[in-house]
Amino acid sequence: MSSTGPAVQRPSKTAELAAVIRALHLRRARSPVFNDDLALEMCGPFWRTVVSSKLLSWLVVDGILRRLAPISPAVYTRARFGEDCLEAAIGRGVEQYVIVGAGYETFAMRRQDLMARLTVYELDQPATQESKRQRMRKAGIPMPEGLRYVAADLNAEPLYDALGRAGFDASRRTLFSWFGVTYYLGKDAIRETLESITGKMAPGSSVMFDYLADPAWTPAAWRGLQERCADFVARRGEPWVSSFDPAEIPGFLTGIGYSEINNLEPDRIGSEYFTADPDLVYPPVIGLCHAATPTG
Ligand SMILES: C[S@@+](CC[C@H](N)C(=O)[O-])C[C@H]1O[C@@H](n2cnc3c(N)ncnc32)[C@H](O)[C@@H]1O
Repeated sequence: MSSTGPAVQRPSKTAELAAVIRALHLRRARSPVFNDDLALEMCGPFWRTVVSSKLLSWLVVDGILRRLAPISPAVYTRARFGEDCLEAAIGRGVEQYVIVGAGYETFAMRRQDLMARLTVYELDQPATQESKRQRMRKAGIPMPEGLRYVAADLNAEPLYDALGRAGFDASRRTLFSWFGVTYYLGKDAIRETLESITGKMAPGSSVMFDYLADPAWTPAAWRGLQERCADFVARRGEPWVSSFDPAEIPGFLTGIGYSEINNLEPDRIGSEYFTADPDLVYPPVIGLCHAATPTG
């Protein structure tokens, strides 16, 4: 999602990789951090075959992709953080949940318990969204009640306008999920989207997102991984274009009008989520944040 480059017109490869990582995590982890039991259905035929086979996943993931694999815990951990934040937000009266850049996320199909209390908007580029819907149909997964699809290119249309087309009600308290996206945007575009939430959404609305740490902040032992990942996504047409000093996130958000900020800096996340499984290591390269606007 580059603010400068052309929009991605084919299904997002990074979105599919995120589904692959969630599916593989469930098969491999002794004590999974996140249980996405529909992720395998969201993988295309190649990855479904790989993930389903111990030998092939060992060859591809632990062999060919071994130098990138250490980043993968960031993907399922952000999903867990997101659903933890969502449950808390529902307790505080959130009625709408907007997943921006939803990719192959399966929340609406998995969490009927929470869907009963929410209207969910999944926003993505048309090609990725259509691919996901096709995979759902193929797997016989019905479209959940309370789910609205919003096909939009945020390089061409502001978030607020796109949601308006889908019946979004800005007077109702909303949580925005924005995972796997900010690093593909320039800082002006990030600020613009965050401002549209403080400026146009109901008081008490909030946003959660992950962000890339500045390479200067990243522990030296992890910088090589960060460079390899940046190179990998750039070669797939989805380059990383922004990063933050994690300590600056609260000031950045307060300046835009957020009041309650939970900024999990990259080096705190492992101890927060990985205590049950000593085999898992969180890459201290990507931070997680939830920020709420004042309740009015
Ligand atoms: C790395 S994926 C993350 C997917 C999902 N949030 C997850 O965590 O699995 C980024 C997503 O942003 C979407 N995206 C990229 N550029 C976009 C744009 N200009 N407008 C809307 N969505 C976009 C992609 O199609 C993709 O689904």
